[in-house]
This record gives sequence, structure tokens and C-alpha cells, in this order.
Amino acid sequence: METKIIDGKAIAAELRAVVATEVAALASQGLKPGLAVVLVGENPASQVYVRNKAAQTAEAGMASFEHKLPVETPEADLLALVARLNADPAVHGILVQLPLPDHIDSMKVLAAIDPAKDVDGFHVVNAGRLAVGLDALVPCTPLGCIILLKRVLGNLSGLKAVVVGRSNIVGKPAAQLLLKEDCTVTIAHSRTRDLPGECRTADILIAAVGRTQMIKGDWIKPGATVIDVGINRIPKEDGKTRLVGDVDFEEAQGVAGLITPVPGGVGPMTIACLLQNTLTAAKRQAGV
Ligand code: GUN
Repeated sequence: METKIIDGKAIAAELRAVVATEVAALASQGLKPGLAVVLVGENPASQVYVRNKAAQTAEAGMASFEHKLPVETPEADLLALVARLNADPAVHGILVQLPLPDHIDSMKVLAAIDPAKDVDGFHVVNAGRLAVGLDALVPCTPLGCIILLKRVLGNLSGLKAVVVGRSNIVGKPAAQLLLKEDCTVTIAHSRTRDLPGECRTADILIAAVGRTQMIKGDWIKPGATVIDVGINRIPKEDGKTRLVGDVDFEEAQGVAGLITPVPGGVGPMTIACLLQNTLTAAKRQAGV
């Protein structure tokens, strides 16, 4: 079987263009969506993400506000910044980059963000709204996965989906979104009995465990659609590193029907969805 590659980079570029067009149209009504990104400390991966987010926000015609705080910033100072951003009418979306330093309680910080500005969809109000089927700001990575799936498969109704990973950021919201699309959903994790067998039942397999190339070719049902959320860095022979996913991409060739590559699959969709969420949040706050 030929395995087709899902071009997340191209689909994300299309989505960003749609967002940019809508942002341009809002400018005539005097509304400019604004996204504030807060980074505490100097985690290199976080710095790369934040730089990309700021650049793409500006490219889409939105206002971008970056707040870089030193690693020793007290929790109270971060909470005070969040309060200021909540009250700032030019800021429609607030994203506090995770992970935060150990001395800061992440849950407390996420809970302090106005749910209407919570473009990450991590606030319990948004998680709860998603769970009960109300309009919510939805976490960007799982939203990107669902957009890719609908693009390549069309209607997902009745398909068997297995999500490997139960994080609040990806696994749980991905399962909620698949359920909303009328999939039959299993959330699998490190304690799942016969994980390979469970994965083999999936028409749609979402890998979000953060373990390098864990999902092998014989874990995949022939013809299944595989969405690889993993971003893992492994050493190359020349001393440099390369990015690989949670799926063994080489082994999946000839087994999966469709698969996202790493890089160039889910990654670009995450930022595109962040821009879409910022636009949605701005429109709701402005009542348009
Ligand atoms: N760290 C890694 N991914 C994310 C994300 O999607 N949002 C935030 N806020 N932090 C992250």
C-alpha cells in the first residue's frame, strides 16, 4: 500500500491566509486582534516557539505583545502581569508559554487568565465547555489534528479513533474533539494493556506520548490515518540533531494509508490554530 503524506505545512499556510484575510477585513471596522505571549526563563525550545508565534502573529496582521521575564520572576509578579493583560483592551489573547519554572504553580497561572482571552484553551472553563459541548476556545494542537483529519478524510463519523497520550494539552482535548465528530474514541496511555493491539484497532491513530518513535509499523492497522504529534530530537551521525515523531515513520511506510511527517505535519498547524483562536477571541470580545 502506498502511504500518502499529509502536508501540514501547506494546510497551515492556507489557514493562516484565511485568518489574515479576515484580520484585514476587521481593520476596516477598527478592530485589530492582539496576542500577548509570556515567556518566563530561557528554555531554548520555548524561545523558538515564542519567536515563531510572534513572527506569524505579525504576518497575519495582528498585534503581537511579547513579555519575556527572568527565570527567577516571583509567581506574584507573573499573576500581576496576567491581571494587567486581562484588563488591556488591545490584548484579545493571552498565552503563557509552558513549562513554567518549578517555583511557579502553572495551574494557578492558567486559572488567572480570563477564559475569554485563553487562546490556549487550557483554562478549566474552556476545558469544561469543550467537555459538555459548548462553544469553547480549544487547545491549538488537537484542533490542528482535527482540521488535518477532516481535510484528508472528510466525514469522521463512526470511525474508530485511538489517542495515545492523556495530557490536558493534547490527549484529552483531542479525544473530546473526536467524540464531537462522532468517532468511537479510546484514550490509551502507558498503563494500557496490549497497547500495540489497541493501536491496531484504530482507523485514526493520534500519537501524543512524547516518546521517540515508540509506535511501530506493526501497531498500525493497514490503511489507517496516523497523526504524529511528537517532536523529539535525536542525534545524527554528524553530531547534529534531527526531529522525529512518536511514530516510527519509516516502519509506517506501506502500512498507514495517510501519515503526518515530523517536522511539517502537526507543528505548523498549532500556530495557525493559535492565530485562528486569537481571531475568534477578538471577534467575541468585540461582539462581531
Ligand atoms: N508549551 C508547549 N506547547 C505549548 C502550547 O501549546 N501552549 C503553551 N502555552 N505552552 C506550550
